[in-house]
Amino acid sequence: MNAFIYQGLPVRVVFGAGKLQALGEEIERLGARRALILTTPEQRGLGEQVAALLGERAAGIYPQAVMHVPIEVARAARDEAARLQADCCVAIGGGSTIGLGKAIAMESGLPILAIPTTYAGSEMTPIYGLTEDRLKKTGRDIRVLPKTVIYDPLLSLSLPVAISSCSGMNAMAHAVEAMYAQDANPIVSLMAEESIRALAEALPAVVDAPNDESARGQALYGAWLAGICLGSVGMAIHHKLCHTLGGTFNLPHAQAHAVVLPHAAHYNHQAAVEPLRRVARALGGREAEEVGPLLFTLNRRLGIPASLAELGLPEEGPAETARIACASPYYNPRPFELAPIQALLERAWHGEAPA
Ligand SMILES: NC(=O)c1ccc[n+]([C@@H]2O[C@H](COP(=O)([O-])OP(=O)(O)OC[C@H]3O[C@@H](n4cnc5c(N)ncnc54)[C@H](O)[C@@H]3O)[C@@H](O)[C@H]2O)c1
Repeated sequence: MNAFIYQGLPVRVVFGAGKLQALGEEIERLGARRALILTTPEQRGLGEQVAALLGERAAGIYPQAVMHVPIEVARAARDEAARLQADCCVAIGGGSTIGLGKAIAMESGLPILAIPTTYAGSEMTPIYGLTEDRLKKTGRDIRVLPKTVIYDPLLSLSLPVAISSCSGMNAMAHAVEAMYAQDANPIVSLMAEESIRALAEALPAVVDAPNDESARGQALYGAWLAGICLGSVGMAIHHKLCHTLGGTFNLPHAQAHAVVLPHAAHYNHQAAVEPLRRVARALGGREAEEVGPLLFTLNRRLGIPASLAELGLPEEGPAETARIACASPYYNPRPFELAPIQALLERAWHGEAPA
């Protein structure tokens, strides 16, 4: 057994169909009385339902969350929280909404209760992001980690199939990269393996029957575990490439993750043989070299766009992304090599299987 460090994250998790109803109790448990409810403009109706559920405990709704937390939106939300004398934030939605809660918590220290409705996993991490002058900065701060997370699979029933599948593969990417992380440890690897198994089984069922509560529950369970992986250990080449594609080319977050993952995992198949063997087994295969093709086949089964070109990456994108990624690489079990990384991105751009 190799030496390792494991640090648990102090989040209370309440999981189950209908558990949104426990929100009032959970707010009380934190000793809070005035919740600012955060949503995107699209999910405002859900915010209103939450306000009705909370009655006097709802201080107000701020339905302005958008992707990548622009600093102006964060500032306006902080002002609103202060004006309403909120003593906690309820962030109900995907990573964008939870990201806005984190931006408020970072300055004010207000506790966050997160109610995720996608599979992105931000609710389980102390990682925040803020965008200023078109540049997204990310960092870690334990103050932004939600105090309580309510996972209610019923809230994900409305997530459109096309977003569910990509968001689920975004979660899968956290679990796959956790297996070969620099600071991988036995307990996070167990969670990662279980997450991969749960997601691989649940996502096709969600695509076939989006209203299947049991499949939605299993997908959310896999996403929860994947979120713990993301919050606990460092990510590698896949995340570096996706951050570059998102930051430089403004590609949609979850979709880019889904398309790149088979290729990024394949890049590591000879450098992280044991971890990727475990991934292969969780996906129904045996050997490390099967992981890329298995993930590629899963993407096809889920109806995910095949190529980076379809997501809007221009033709010079693969070369540019490879150059930027290699200029400031993350840890990766196989060193960053410019030509093979450009080649893998070109395959992803064309929608070809990993090779
Ligand atoms: N800090 C972290 O640890 C972390 C982790 C993962 C993602 N993120 C960030 O989160 C953002 C992406 O989050 P996301 O992929 O969850 O997307 P998102 O939060 O931007 O949501 C996408 C769209 O789906 C809608 N939506 C969400 N749930 C829905 C539901 N159940 N029914 C109907 N519509 C629904 C939203 O209102 C929004 O319009 C990115 O900015 C990413 O960088 C951060």
